Amino acid sequence: MINGYTRVLGVIGNPVEHTMSPVIHNTLAEKLGDNLVYTAFHVNNEYVGDAVKGAYALNLLGLNVTVPHKSAVIPYLSDIDPLAKRIGAVNTLVRTENGYKGYNTDMPGLLRAMKRDGVDICGEHIILLGAGGVARAVAMMLAEAGASHIYILNRTVEKAENIADEVNSSSGCKSIVTAMETGAYRKLDNGKKYIVIQATSVGMHPDTEKAVIEDDEFYKLVNIGYDIVFNPSETKFMKLCQKAGADAFNGLRMLLYQGVIAYELWTGKKITDELAEAVYMKMSESL
Ligand code: ATR
Repeated sequence: MINGYTRVLGVIGNPVEHTMSPVIHNTLAEKLGDNLVYTAFHVNNEYVGDAVKGAYALNLLGLNVTVPHKSAVIPYLSDIDPLAKRIGAVNTLVRTENGYKGYNTDMPGLLRAMKRDGVDICGEHIILLGAGGVARAVAMMLAEAGASHIYILNRTVEKAENIADEVNSSSGCKSIVTAMETGAYRKLDNGKKYIVIQATSVGMHPDTEKAVIEDDEFYKLVNIGYDIVFNPSETKFMKLCQKAGADAFNGLRMLLYQGVIAYELWTGKKITDELAEAVYMKMSESL
């Protein structure tokens, strides 16, 4: 029941119409009996600052922020969480007395999805495919989670080198990060198995028959494969992992858990894995 006490939340993006976040948050609110409503706001790039200030003025409890506004919102925040600051991207705004505080729940979301699958990054050898904005954030998260060695493979090796330099030189980093051109996986120790994270948009609908690496030899190195892509639900990368006998997961649980963590920040409630799974079912249905 929407009434005078209903608190409003939403996501800003451009475009934003395809977003699955309303499914996540309205399902959580309904199941938890919270008087909240979550909707999507299409915000043109020149209005990002006005949108954040306006949302605060309208007493919105919080916002999610999606592409292309994740960095653009930062100047309009009253505070920023250290992880979000390091990544340089904010996807969740939490209302405080002085304004919105920015967080990044995308990366903790990936970590929580992995934990649910029984995967612990600490001490692991990881292959990261891609060196765009998402891959950079994943590399930082992996280093923070204590990965032993991260191999960043990218078509444009310079971009992988930039991320490797940045992470290697960050204070307190115990991971070793190595940049390689994509085909250089042949130089990796083939007696070892790696957790592989596919952090490019390759294979995403409608271009579903593509993977960054299509050589079966590469997939012999895979212990577990994670694709950040969730549409289609089984990507070419995942199929190649499975063909080689490895487990493979898509990005839908990462999306789920970034939402779950945002909801926890807004409400102070702890979402159980059981409730998260109920939301996951709803998301799968709406795909
Ligand atoms: P995002 O910020 O979403 O990560 P991005 O910055 O455009 O997006 O990065 C896209 C990533 O996908 C890059 O690593 C890109 O490789 P390049 O750095 O060489 O451009 C990778 N990518 C995109 N299309 C690709 C393709 N057809 N084959 C291999 N890699 C591809």
